[in-house]
Amino acid sequence: MQRTKTALKYLGLGIAVTVMLGLAIAPFSKRLIEQWSRNDVEARSRLVYNAVQSQIVAAMADGDNVQLSLLFSAIALDQRILAVGLCAPQGGLIAPTKMMPAAFSCEKVARSDAESFSTIAIDGHRIMVGAFPVSSGTTRSYLVILHDLSFIDKRSGEARAFIIAVLFGVAVAMAGGAMIFVFVTLRGWMESLRRAVEDVRTGTSSLAATRDQSAIDVQIKKLLSEVEVGRSAINATQIEWSPTTLQQLLRDSLPEAEVLIVSNREPYIHNRDGDTVSVQVPASGLVSALEPVIRACGGTWIAHGSGSADRETVDRHDRIDVPPDRPAYSLRRIWISDEEQEGFYYGFANEGLWPLCHIAFVRPTFRENDWRLYQAINERFADAVVQEAKTDDPIVLVQDYHFALAPRMIRNKLPKATIITFWHIPWPNAETFSICPWKEQIIDGMLGSTILGFHTQFHCNNFFETVDRFIESRIDREHATVTLGGHETMVRAYPISIEWPPAALEGQPPVEVCRAEVRAALGLAPDTRIAVGIERFDYTKGILDRMRAVDDLLTRQPDWKGRLVFVQVAAPTRSKLSSYSSLQDDAVALADEINARHGSADYTPIRLLIRHHGAAEVFKLFRAADCCVVSSLHDGMNLVAKEFAAARDDERGVLVLSSFTGASRELAAALIVNPYHLHEMATALDTALRMPDREQQERMRAMRQQIREWNVYRWAARMLIDAAASRRRQRIFDLAGGAR
Ligand code: G6P
Repeated sequence: MQRTKTALKYLGLGIAVTVMLGLAIAPFSKRLIEQWSRNDVEARSRLVYNAVQSQIVAAMADGDNVQLSLLFSAIALDQRILAVGLCAPQGGLIAPTKMMPAAFSCEKVARSDAESFSTIAIDGHRIMVGAFPVSSGTTRSYLVILHDLSFIDKRSGEARAFIIAVLFGVAVAMAGGAMIFVFVTLRGWMESLRRAVEDVRTGTSSLAATRDQSAIDVQIKKLLSEVEVGRSAINATQIEWSPTTLQQLLRDSLPEAEVLIVSNREPYIHNRDGDTVSVQVPASGLVSALEPVIRACGGTWIAHGSGSADRETVDRHDRIDVPPDRPAYSLRRIWISDEEQEGFYYGFANEGLWPLCHIAFVRPTFRENDWRLYQAINERFADAVVQEAKTDDPIVLVQDYHFALAPRMIRNKLPKATIITFWHIPWPNAETFSICPWKEQIIDGMLGSTILGFHTQFHCNNFFETVDRFIESRIDREHATVTLGGHETMVRAYPISIEWPPAALEGQPPVEVCRAEVRAALGLAPDTRIAVGIERFDYTKGILDRMRAVDDLLTRQPDWKGRLVFVQVAAPTRSKLSSYSSLQDDAVALADEINARHGSADYTPIRLLIRHHGAAEVFKLFRAADCCVVSSLHDGMNLVAKEFAAARDDERGVLVLSSFTGASRELAAALIVNPYHLHEMATALDTALRMPDREQQERMRAMRQQIREWNVYRWAARMLIDAAASRRRQRIFDLAGGAR
C-alpha cells in the first residue's frame, strides 16, 4: 500500500509539472510561430520578386498589361499568396489578380528605395503587404504581394493544440502507467496475501507468479515510454533522411519487424532475348519510389513475375535475391496466366479503376469476369504474404489500385499484421466512385489496412466522403480515422518522393557534355534548345496537349523555328488496350503533322522516341534539356517532375508543371500551368526558354531543397513511425489484457 501511495504522489506531481510546463510553453510557442511564419512569408515574397523582376520590367517597357496579368495570375497560383498587383507611379493599381481585396489601395503602400512589409486589416483578416520597387526608365512602380496571415493563427492554434495534446498524452500515459502499476501492485498484494494465508495453512511459499507479473509490469512501462519515440524525429526538419536514418528508425522503433511489399509491378524483370537474359527496371513511379526503401530496410517484395525469363531465374520457392549486382532483399514472384492477366490487370485494374480514379475523360469499363479475376488474384497475393511471413505480425506494405481487396484478406489471415496500404493514384469524389459496381467491397477491402495513405489531403478527403456515403462506419475526421467492425484505419496524406541523392546521377558527365552528346545523338545543331517530356505512353500524361502547345508556340513565335526541338520519350505501356494503342497512333500522326507544318529537310521540331529508356539515359536527357514539360491531365504525384529537378545539380533548367499533379503542391517554384489551356502552356514554354540564368537558379534551388528534405526515405519513415505507434498501442492493450 505504501508503494501505491508513493505512485499516486508522483503521479500528482508529474501532472502538476506537466500542466505548468504547458502554461509556460504555450505563449512562447505562439510568438515563435508568428515570427517564423512572418519570416517565411517575407522570404517567399522576396523569392517571387527576384524571380519575376526582369519580366515585369520588360512588360512595363512594352506597356504590356496583358503579359503582366498572365504573370501575376501564375504567381497567385501559389496557395499562400492572396493577390498580386503593380502600384503605378501615380498610385493606381495595375493588373490586380482575381483575389485582390476591393478595399486594398496603393495609397497605403510605403514607397521607399528598398523592399518594405506592412500588415493591414481587411474584412477582419490580417494581410501582409510586401512592396518591392521595380524601375523602368525613370519611373518607379511597386510590385505588391499580399499574403493572408490567418494561416499563422491557425498554425499557432495547431501548435498549441499539439503541445496540449502531447502534454495530455504524457499525463494520460503517466496516469495509465500509475493505474496499471496500482492495479498490478494491488493484484500482487492480494495474491501475496492469499498465498501467505495459503503458506501459513500449508507451510509452503511461492514467488514465481509474482516474478512473472513484474516482468509484464516492466514491459508495459518500457512500451509506454517508447510510444512517442520517433514522432519527434520525423518532425525535425534538420534530419536529412537517408537509408541509414531509415534503418536506424526501424532498429529503434520497430525492432525485429519484418517488412513485406505487395505490388503488381516487380522491381526487376528478367527477359530472354535469344541466348541472353537481360534485366530491366520498369518505368513505374511506384517502383522507383519503393525500391530504394526496401533496399534500405531489407525484406521481401511480392510481385507479378512478368518477364519472359522470370521463371528460369527464380529458385524453387519462386524467389530471387535482388538487386542483381548487390542483393539486399528477396523478390518473390507470383505467376498469373494470360487469361487472369486480361481480367485482373488489363480489365478491372486498368480499364476499370485507372480511368475511374483519373479525370482524363476516358470511360471506365467494369465487367463481372474481370471482377472475379481481380478477387482471385488479390487472394493469391494475400496467400503469398502468409507464406512469406516469418512472424504473425509483419509490416505489409500493400501498393496501389491493383490490390484494393488484399488488405482485408491479409487482415483475416494475419490479424496482428500491420498493413500499410498506399494508393499511388488520385482518389475521385464520391459521386464518381459510385460508378464502380463493387464500390462497397473495394472500400471494405481497403479498410482492412492499419494505415491508408494517399499523396494529398484532397484525396484523403475524397476517400472520407466516399466511405461516408457508401459504408456504415465511424469516421473521426479530427484524428483522421475510420472504424469499421471494431477495427480502426488511419487515413493520412504521405506525399511520395524519390531517393536523395539519386543513384542515376552517379557517374553522369557534366551538363555541357550531356548536352553535346544528346545533340550529337539526335543530329541537332550545337545551339539547338531542347525541351523534353519523358513518361509512359499514357493518356493521363497530356502528351498530345503538350505537342499542340509546341505547335502553338512555333506558329505564334516563328523565330523558334529551327532553334527549338521538343524531345518526347514515351515508354510503351498497356498497349493491348485500345485507349493506349490509339493514343500512340494519334501521337505519331500529330508529330508528323506538326513536323510537316513547321519542319524542313534538316529540321524536325518534334522527336518522338517510343521505347523504354533506362534511368541513366533519362537523367542524361534531363541534364541536356533547357526545360522539361510535365503536362499530366491528372496525376497522383508525378515523380518525373522531381527526377528532373534531382538531375539538375547545375541548378539550371526550367520545369513546366501541370497544376493537376500532386507534385505541383510541393514544387511551387516550377512554372505551373493548366494543360487544357494550350495558349498558357505555349507561353510558359516560351518563358521557360527565355528565363534568365539567375531566375532558373532560384527556382531550381528551391525545388531541389524541397525534394532533398522530403525525400522518399522520409516518406517511408513517416508511415513507419505511424505504424510503430499503432503497434505499441496494440501491444499495451494486449499486455493490459484489453482489446482494441
Ligand atoms: C502508375 C501506377 C503504378 C504502375 C505504373 C506503371 O505509376 O501507379 O502502379 O506500376 O503506373 O504501370 P504498369 O501498368 O506498367 O505497371
